[in-house]
Amino acid sequence: SKKISKICCIGAGYVGGPTMAVIAQKCPDIEVTVVDINAQRIAAWNDKDVNKIPVYEPGLSEVVAEARGKNLFFSTEVDKAIDEAEMIFISVNTPTKTYGKGKGMAADLKYIELCARQIARVAKNDKIVVEKSTLPVRTAEALKSILHNTGNGVNFDILSNPEFLAEGTAIQDLYKPDRVLIGGDSPEAIQALVDVYACWVPNENILTTNVWSSELSKLTANAFLAQRVSSINALSELCEKTGADVNEVARAIGTDSRIGPKFLKASVGFGGSCFQKDILNLVYIAKTYGLTEVADYWEQVILMNDHQKRRFADNIVSTLYNTVSGKKIAFLGWAFKKDTNDTRESAAIYVADHLLNEQAEIVVYDPKVPEEQIYADLDYLNTRSEKENRNLVTVVNDPYEAVNEAHAVAVLTEWDEFKAYDWQKIYREMLKPSFVFDGRALLDKEQLKGIGFEMYTIGVGEEQ
Ligand code: NAD
Ligand code: UDX
Repeated sequence: SKKISKICCIGAGYVGGPTMAVIAQKCPDIEVTVVDINAQRIAAWNDKDVNKIPVYEPGLSEVVAEARGKNLFFSTEVDKAIDEAEMIFISVNTPTKTYGKGKGMAADLKYIELCARQIARVAKNDKIVVEKSTLPVRTAEALKSILHNTGNGVNFDILSNPEFLAEGTAIQDLYKPDRVLIGGDSPEAIQALVDVYACWVPNENILTTNVWSSELSKLTANAFLAQRVSSINALSELCEKTGADVNEVARAIGTDSRIGPKFLKASVGFGGSCFQKDILNLVYIAKTYGLTEVADYWEQVILMNDHQKRRFADNIVSTLYNTVSGKKIAFLGWAFKKDTNDTRESAAIYVADHLLNEQAEIVVYDPKVPEEQIYADLDYLNTRSEKENRNLVTVVNDPYEAVNEAHAVAVLTEWDEFKAYDWQKIYREMLKPSFVFDGRALLDKEQLKGIGFEMYTIGVGEEQ
């Protein structure tokens, strides 16, 4: 098969950036150019200070520092990169549609289609086009029809190669993937992509399938993962009522090798750019085929997650004597999980929104999320004016400033550093009684109760 020497990736986001950085690092003979129409983002990827790249991921800046300028390039010259590459990854965003047919459910494929049309317009020689974005099953058909009707004699092979990395562990996930999945119908094209991954991934971890199985496997994987979180979160509510401890239950069931121990951590609700979007998309596809029971089954995973976020906020209000109006509530964490600066669909946003409806005053501390992002997340909801959001929400760079004279602390993200804080000092500085609502079951409940805190831990009931 053809040996690839130049790769272009369209989309320099949370997937395109880390994935291409690792390909460049592991395949020194391949020149990798990551392009994006967002000039500010490209400038940040090119920042001399490698700690200012736009994606925070443990280990990523080191990989970028090693490969950038050698065989890894970030650029806004999309046409040029398409023209020069033999293999083009499409890694643009595929958000939930906010308008028209399928609004709030279907994936918006306009960015994908724009890429296909641009490739069709620019390409002068044969290309392998790789779907790296998460796409509804049968998207490759649409890409094919756009690319195969250019009439300029260029041959395009289309592969599906979904990405399974999780944010916060992206580099480790890329270094040692459980599997790399490649779907396609051209054996030569498949082999060319297998050869790229074979630079560092053992052959037995590279799976090939037909293109539709590959596309659908990505939605299925995210649906199963999210379902586990909603399942344990559903039980967390029952644990609280019955004096059981969801972490003990998780340990007890997780030792069953058929169930397994991972992804059983109860939380204030899953967030991130993928789970909700991909399940909604799956539900929409099922509905399109008239599969009502299939659609309803998976939709329940989302409904449970909405309930979990809601009841966490409701519990804060009812515990604080049914009013949080004018009360200061300190948020520890805003990111949707630890070790990332990504806040998309973070539970913190929705918990904050509920509490702001009750006129709470929220002070946020997150180690990696900047102030502008927090305001942007709240403004995007359109629940209240930008001015009101800025009046009610303050963002601080020091956790101890956040908790000072607060009525309550709410833990929204499981950042390690929260465990190491001086909780004696925090107790001294808060109003009394001092409430802690631990939405991640992160803190030592008994220790904090010993200090004097009124503790609520997700999924942990009172024993008596
Ligand atoms: P992102 O929003 O971080 O990045 C996408 C980038 O594409 C943006 O910078 C945007 O400016 C750029 N873009 C959009 N249209 C473009 C165009 N026509 N030309 C050039 N650039 C364009 O998104 P992401 O989180 O990297 O996700 C990308 C895809 O990967 C999505 O389909 C997502 O579902 C999937 N995915 C994401 C993750 C994750 O953890 N974030 C994991 C697996 C798969
Ligand atoms: C997910 C998939 O794991 C990954 O394979 C896919 O490529 C993209 O979507 P990501 O969203 O980055 O990755 O992070 P993930 O670790 O899956 O966590 C998603 C959300 O679920 C987070 O909010 C996390 O806090 C929550 N979660 C996860 C739990 O509440 N409990 C768990 O046990 C696991």
